Amino acid sequence: MKLAAARAALDYVPSGAVLGVGSGSTVNLFIAALPGIRQRIEAAVASSEATAQRLAAAGIRVLDLNEVDDMPVYVDGADEVTEHLSMIKGGGGALTREKIVAAVAREFVCIADQSKLVPVLGQFPLPVEVIPMARSHVGRELAKLGATPVLRPGFTTDNGNIILDAHNLVISNPAELESAINQIAGVVTCGLFARRGADVLLLAGPEGVVKRGKRGILS
Ligand code: 5RP
Repeated sequence: MKLAAARAALDYVPSGAVLGVGSGSTVNLFIAALPGIRQRIEAAVASSEATAQRLAAAGIRVLDLNEVDDMPVYVDGADEVTEHLSMIKGGGGALTREKIVAAVAREFVCIADQSKLVPVLGQFPLPVEVIPMARSHVGRELAKLGATPVLRPGFTTDNGNIILDAHNLVISNPAELESAINQIAGVVTCGLFARRGADVLLLAGPEGVVKRGKRGILS
């Protein structure tokens, strides 16, 4: 199903433009399919070092985001997504760069299998990227918000920081919680993508891929 969602995203790759590419196993399947349409892709921006390496190995030119002023489309996966296209991301730890690249893109295309669609976010522990010296402070602040924070063991982000995974949250207002967590001193960003959610969700199930927008099924 991940492969079906990844292949469906090829239709969204614009010609002659810079493509934003996320991280994770679903995106890796998307990258593996890119050589078939390489002539359409001017270059790409990667949301992680791992993705940059895969893109380069697939023969796609990788640009620094600072060299890019227009990006029509960003393709990425999600750990959880609602029907309103708010997401939890960062299971792979690339949430900060994912959020930055997504902020530049005009359209966010999320690719996922149907197990990722949830009525309420929070079953998947919410990743929070934290400056190492702020670990204890941020942990206490997350606990005040009702979370059980757990340090992701032996993990350092591409930015040199740690991840606290916030368990036991029931996220009824994702945009509000995203802002609240992002305002804690020492938080780089949290893995809630609600203020800038996806624009299109390509959700793969046994019957095929369903295209969803923020207002429901598109086709
Ligand atoms: C990485 C991410 C991924 O998009 C998310 O974890 C989904 O991964 P997968 O496609 O492997 O299920 O946010 O930081």
